[in-house]
Amino acid sequence: MDTFRPVADNLRNAEKLVFVTGAGISQESGIPTFRGKDGLWRKYDAMKLATIDAFYEDPKLVWEWYEERRQNILAAKPNPGHVAIAELERHKQVHVLTQNVDGLHQRAGSKLVYELHGSIITIKCTVCDFKDKITSSLSELPPLCKCGNILRPDVVWFGEPLPQDVWQDAMLQASSCDVMIVVGTSLAVSPANLLPVYAKQNGATIIEVNPEETPMSSSMDLSLRSSAAKALPELISIVSK
Ligand code: OAD
Ligand code: ZN
Repeated sequence: MDTFRPVADNLRNAEKLVFVTGAGISQESGIPTFRGKDGLWRKYDAMKLATIDAFYEDPKLVWEWYEERRQNILAAKPNPGHVAIAELERHKQVHVLTQNVDGLHQRAGSKLVYELHGSIITIKCTVCDFKDKITSSLSELPPLCKCGNILRPDVVWFGEPLPQDVWQDAMLQASSCDVMIVVGTSLAVSPANLLPVYAKQNGATIIEVNPEETPMSSSMDLSLRSSAAKALPELISIVSK
């Protein structure tokens, strides 16, 4: 129960908590990370699967990969890490800035989730305005829009900009929080990896939960070498005291 002790007062006194999350928070839900030991980018070439050029080159191949991930994600359940973040809303103002596309924070009950890299559950047309949440499995790959053009997952691919409204909100929340807790991200991808920098520049206490070191570990007020599902539930007893 002592994990967060060095920053316990900061947590208790905080009005606004901001979480920055990455693939690691969903690892204990059975969803692989990108750069870890069983990471997806160790097995697959991101440039062949996660760019718009790759998609137009071979939409079926890209869709087969995404559809497998979609089914794995739809069958997965939020773990105690996601659930703890959602429960903290009973005690504090909580905003979740996530790089994940899996929707598990929302399914755990978090209300203010900013999806920096989009959502794998949402599908949109490459040409018209069609966009919809689709939880059933897709039989025809690539799926086609009513307008006749190819549909794509509503995720941000390499080389694509983040949804600007979401990014603006995320920067604002990062710059105005009292405590930022960075969970399960290697902080290898820009611009999401700037969010802890904005928080620190604005005087927030910054905490990291990650079994591995990251480029920002030494800048953290507390860097915990722990898994999300183990560490995060401990936050509840601290802030509810
Ligand atoms: P990464 O795979 O780069 O990093 C996952 C991090 O989670 C690593 O630092 C691990 O040490 C840590 N980790 C592993 N298991 C954990 C656990 N149980 N609890 C806590 N931490 C754990 O994933 P991201 O940083 O999210 O983008 O990657 C960022 C972006 O790169 C992704 O959104 C994706 C990817 O390419 C796009 O597809 C655009
Ligand atoms: Zn269309």
